[in-house]
This record gives sequence, structure tokens and C-alpha cells, in this order.
Amino acid sequence: MIQRHTGLVLAFDVDWDVEKSIMFLNGISDLIDAVKIGWYQLLTIGPQGIKELTDSVNKYFLADFKLGDVAHINEYVVRKVYGLGINGLIMHAVAGRDNLATAINVARKLGVDVYLLISMSSGGELYDRNLDYNVSLGMSLGVSGFIVPATKPNVVRQVRSMVGSNYQLLSPGVGVQGGKPGCAIANGADFEIVGRSIINSESPRQAALNILNAIRNPISCS
Ligand code: C5P
Repeated sequence: MIQRHTGLVLAFDVDWDVEKSIMFLNGISDLIDAVKIGWYQLLTIGPQGIKELTDSVNKYFLADFKLGDVAHINEYVVRKVYGLGINGLIMHAVAGRDNLATAINVARKLGVDVYLLISMSSGGELYDRNLDYNVSLGMSLGVSGFIVPATKPNVVRQVRSMVGSNYQLLSPGVGVQGGKPGCAIANGADFEIVGRSIINSESPRQAALNILNAIRNPISCS
């Protein structure tokens, strides 16, 4: 599980080299609880670069490959990301019970958390039609939590009321995608995942501080 201090997870969607990435992350590390990495890192700095990041930055690393393949591929990915120093990963509920179960069992043995994606921040209507089923599926498989979009406050509230306090809710879609900073947490999420509003800012630290301020003092969230 991600330890909550600030409530902010950085979506680190950048194609920077390892050195620049480490410098940026160390400069903002005290303001965030986790770093979400994914295709950008895999396709630019590669697995070795990811390993260098996890070795150099003392933070929880969440791998977002939105994994949703058949069982043996999912298991391979879980084992590989574990070897790269990753602490948690995101899987697509749409992969279905059997394909998820294999990977989640392996992840549990390795100490890697699995967060289940059950709603997209934009589109994803097939998910929203099957919300109850996917939440129950995740709970029965023993995931650590769920990805619920800040752009759909009713989904955040609904999922929180279904899962109680034993599962972490991570909420992307804050800022550029339209979710108001602070409101996903006000609606029941544990963490807000923010990328471009911080990364593309002239002052990433200040942008992160502004979001933390909104998390502490949410205004007009519905
Ligand atoms: O830049 P921005 O803050 O919009 O980034 C949002 C991040 O959250 C991206 O890394 C995106 O892949 C991720 N995400 C999302 N919606 C989901 C799941 C993940 O936007 N349902």
C-alpha cells in the first residue's frame, strides 16, 4: 500500500533521460507520496533506466502499463517490474477474473501491490456500465485498491461507499483533464494522481504546493 502523507501521486509522463528524471524527482519528492511511471519511461529510458530511477529515488513507484493481457503475459510483466524495483502496478479489470487472479497471486507473493482500473477519466463507458461487478471482482481478488477518475466524482463516491476503508482509491484526471484539485479526495479518494499540471508548469514545486493546498482546503466540490 502507498503510505499517505500528502495525498499526491505524480504521473511522471515525460521522455527525459535518467539524470534529468532523478533531478526532477528529488526536487519534488517531499511533496508526493508516489511516482507513477509507465510507457514514457519504458520506451525512452528502458528497463535499465527504470531500475536506475527506483534505485536513486526513495519513493513508492507505481507502474502504469494498464496491464490487461492473458494470464501468462500478466505474470511475466509482474515478475519483470518487481525486478525493476517497482512497488505497485495498475491492471485493467477488463482482463477478467482468471487473467487477473494469476498475476495478483504472483504479485502478492512478491510484495507488489495491484491497483485495479475500473473507470477511465475520459470515455470508458463499458467500465461505467459494469462498475459494481468490477469493484466486487477486485475485492474478491484481493487488490490493494482501485483507480477511480477525478473527472467522475459520482464514481469516486460510489466506489468509496462500496469498498469501505480497506482499499485505497487513486484518482487521476485532476487539472488538465478537468478534475478540480482537492475534490477527488474530498469525495473519498486517498490520492490524487497529477501529471501535466505539475510537469508542464513553469514552477513544478509551486504547482504541486497549490494542489496540496487544495487537498487541505477543498472548496466547492460536488
Ligand atoms: O497529465 P494528467 O494529470 O492528465 O495525467 C493523468 C495520468 O493518469 C496519466 O498518466 C494517465 O495515463 C493516467 N490515468 C488516467 N485515467 C485513468 C487511469 C490512468 O488519466 N483512468
